[in-house]
Amino acid sequence: METMKAIRIHKYGGPDALVLEDAPRPGITDDEVLVKVYAAAVNPIDWKVRAGYLEDMLPIKLPIIPGWDFSGVVEETGSSVADLNPGDEVYALSDITRDGSCAEYIAVKAGIVAMKPRSVDHIQAASVPLAGLTAWQALFDMGGLEKGQRVLVHAAAGGVGSFAVQFAQNRGAYVIGTASAKNRDYLLELGADEVIDYSVTPFEDEVADVDLVLDTMSGEVQDRSWKVLRKGGILVSALGPPDAEKAKEHGARGVPVFVQPDSAQLAEIARLIDDGTVRTNVTEVLSLEEAGRAHELSETHHVRGKIVLKII
Ligand SMILES: NC(=O)c1ccc[n+]([C@@H]2O[C@H](COP(=O)([O-])OP(=O)(O)OC[C@H]3O[C@@H](n4cnc5c(N)ncnc54)[C@H](OP(=O)(O)O)[C@@H]3O)[C@@H](O)[C@H]2O)c1
Repeated sequence: METMKAIRIHKYGGPDALVLEDAPRPGITDDEVLVKVYAAAVNPIDWKVRAGYLEDMLPIKLPIIPGWDFSGVVEETGSSVADLNPGDEVYALSDITRDGSCAEYIAVKAGIVAMKPRSVDHIQAASVPLAGLTAWQALFDMGGLEKGQRVLVHAAAGGVGSFAVQFAQNRGAYVIGTASAKNRDYLLELGADEVIDYSVTPFEDEVADVDLVLDTMSGEVQDRSWKVLRKGGILVSALGPPDAEKAKEHGARGVPVFVQPDSAQLAEIARLIDDGTVRTNVTEVLSLEEAGRAHELSETHHVRGKIVLKII
């Protein structure tokens, strides 16, 4: 059996539940590709899975390799894969219920993979898929955002928020983001029209008549968000179905988003990165050995942009 270095979770727990060890190198089926992973991003879902918070929600079996964002090079293709070849530089969000990308190799369905943006390296490319697709699907697929609309992006300096600000601005929306003071200039550079320092000003005192709220916070932030929506506006939550009663009370709609792999959307996002419209912001690059530290950082919920593990 061929082996590879991988981080595996054998038992739910703290960062020390992440074990760096030799694991079987995955085989592929006819419609899959084996990718040599160059870089893997860390997202909040990584530590939520590690801690067992999603045990009842997702059909996850232990041991599992965490990390579901990657950028790398195709090593091998299944017999029915026509449009990818060994040597192709690709990136993707992989299936969260399968072994992930904190490893030297990952096996994925060929249909979820896209060519990585050419203008950035693997570290930057790996930081894009999960957060970028979440922002895209929340704003456009679930929220139906159109040119000229007003959008409020919570946690705008985070992984999802940083892409949401840029995608919404590029679509021609008026973008308001919430963040602490240290992220104000960062968000203005990304294209936000207004930045509200949530630690000083309750956003609901400053914002009104919003068409779409992108809620990555839930709890009391969601509760206070209904009143900033115009009648008929929509709140898209990245943290489960929003409160239907409150939506009705405010004459608004509430929908959840649960990110799905999508190679066509990734190809479009790669195009926006390559033409300079969108950028990704990697603030921490760590090694596979430092996966525990990466989880600890993500768990602070105050990282700007993205954390990436460099594997090659
Ligand atoms: N449903 C899905 O498919 C899906 C997909 C992706 C993510 N998610 C979830 O969405 C959430 C956000 O993900 P992410 O990757 O964007 O997280 P993240 O990158 O860890 O978010 C960090 C950001 O949150 C900001 N923040 C913290 N508290 C805030 C507050 N009270 N108000 C406004 N901003 C605040 C921080 O800015 P400051 O330092 O300035 O405070 C920081 O920049 C996570 O819970 C994640 O699990 C769900």
